[in-house]
Amino acid sequence: MCGIVAYIGHREVYPILIKGLQRLEYRGYDSAGIAILNGDLKVFKKAGKVSDLNDFAKGKDTGGTVGMGHTRWATHGEPNDRNAHPHYSQSGKFAVIHNGIIENYSSIKAELIKRGHTFNSDTDTEVLIHLIEDIHDNAGVTLDEAVRLALGEVIGAYAIVVLSKDNPRELICARKGSPIVLGVGKDKQEYFVASDATPIIEYTNNVIYLNDGEMAYIKDGQLTVKTIENQVKTPYIHELEMKLEQLEKGGYDHFMLKEIYEQPRSIWDSMRGRIDAKKGFLRLGGIAEYENKFINAKRIVIIGCGTSWHAGLVAEYLIEDLARIPVEVEYASEFRYRNPVIYEDDIVIPISQSGETADTLAAIELAKSKGATIFGVCNVVGSSIPRATHAGAYTHAGPEIGVASTKAFTAQVTVLTLMAMQIARHRGTITDSRYHQLLNELEAIPAKVEIALKTNDICKELAAKFKDAKNFLYLGRGYGFPVALEGALKLKEISYIHAEGYPAAEMKHGPIALIDEEMPVVVIANKNETYEKVVSNIQEVKARKGKIIAIVTEGDTTVKGMADYCIEVPEADDILIPLLSVVPLQLLSYHIAVMRGCNVDQPRNLAKSVTVE
Ligand code: G6P
Repeated sequence: MCGIVAYIGHREVYPILIKGLQRLEYRGYDSAGIAILNGDLKVFKKAGKVSDLNDFAKGKDTGGTVGMGHTRWATHGEPNDRNAHPHYSQSGKFAVIHNGIIENYSSIKAELIKRGHTFNSDTDTEVLIHLIEDIHDNAGVTLDEAVRLALGEVIGAYAIVVLSKDNPRELICARKGSPIVLGVGKDKQEYFVASDATPIIEYTNNVIYLNDGEMAYIKDGQLTVKTIENQVKTPYIHELEMKLEQLEKGGYDHFMLKEIYEQPRSIWDSMRGRIDAKKGFLRLGGIAEYENKFINAKRIVIIGCGTSWHAGLVAEYLIEDLARIPVEVEYASEFRYRNPVIYEDDIVIPISQSGETADTLAAIELAKSKGATIFGVCNVVGSSIPRATHAGAYTHAGPEIGVASTKAFTAQVTVLTLMAMQIARHRGTITDSRYHQLLNELEAIPAKVEIALKTNDICKELAAKFKDAKNFLYLGRGYGFPVALEGALKLKEISYIHAEGYPAAEMKHGPIALIDEEMPVVVIANKNETYEKVVSNIQEVKARKGKIIAIVTEGDTTVKGMADYCIEVPEADDILIPLLSVVPLQLLSYHIAVMRGCNVDQPRNLAKSVTVE
């Protein structure tokens, strides 16, 4: 969702802002804008893409070395030029960019209108900068103090940057609920501010993550960090491991395709240093630290959204199967508002690629307030979720730019597999031979994913055949069921074809009514314990003339004899099948979306990082 980039230093700021906004495009947005301080406080903003903003600014005076830029994903007010950020204060002396929602904006707005303020947009954000100016002028305080006092009055979530025409060497930013990363430039003489590290990494890998309720104030090259309650903090400078090449397409047409192809590597990275089959070694440091909690847990609750929720469903099967602890998997957005029963000895596992999903963060806070132990599984290092949890494991998939999650999903499933095995080992619920067999199989997975990627050509052929379908059904059982859900989600997200994932046997209770000769039905039919049952479900679809596309285990002959099309993936233990069978589903949806002319990496209306509820 909204993206923030800002800079204060000695370099020309415009190229930094435009490039930064392009790096933030992946988060999802519908308008963009920048403000530059140079004698005046100049704002340029436009609905549409960053390239539209760049065209609009061409030929205009964009000189200056202090500025900020924003990509807006509309919440309050439609996505047009007027509602795009930055927003000015009443006098035009101050400007703000904002990510989040000011929930009590209407009462503040009503009060400010009584005091003579007029507003130029329908946004909640504009209210904030008017409030800051009102406090600044009436209380006679410095700008940073006015920002601090204003933030004390607002309810909601925010990451903001404020600039002032009268204070040209000053930049203020603050966060609560939405992320802010500060990049510390050479000799601490220049600072970058952004929603995530992607706009910063080109210039520096020294970063400071602002904590919730903190603000940073940069004046004449001096950085001060304090809380909204006015307590000064000593910021810790982290070193980023991200590489610039990870943010480039590297010869691929789309980030999504690049990320699909990165999976043999990213899966390996998620296991690196954590397993060694020869030595019988498996260790996730975070779990080892909370060993007793896991051994004694009566229940594990997994929370997540979107693809991460699907990884959670795989984990439910894994943990119950191997570690014999009851698991519940919940949408974070439901969990946080339904007054769930949470015990102090529960372990809650939030799963998140971005580490910034607002609903997941709120669900964590709720579970924490009830005394549960929170163990996060997250991809983005230093993001809000890992910092809100007691312990956790990073998935180390590297930056994922395509909105449709691919390599992050397989890395999540890998880490969750390791987690289930480690807990099972601690609890004594896995035999030695099964443990060692699984370690060997896990180490073999990256090479098998490499083979699964060879299905690209057949996936492309099938995409050409089915790209005009109106609906798709995805069916699976056992470990194949979450894969079916994930396959359907991938297709919906990027090709805008309606698709449903269903447990294969449940099909009889509804979706079977939809099946006719027009309906492609993708069935996850790998050789496993439910194979025979899935074969029966395929017959049920065939009998109604549905077109079967089956994902099968190499060498399968039974399903091959009855399906219209088969895609073979290597054989693997049942519990590892999601890592292989999801690959052709990712490729199929990718090719369908490309053939339909869709914007694969930035599908309409979707955001990569959903920072509002
Ligand atoms: C958005 C993204 C999905 C992602 C979901 C959860 O909807 O487009 O790809 O699965 O958010 O995000 P998280 O970062 O918490 O995994």
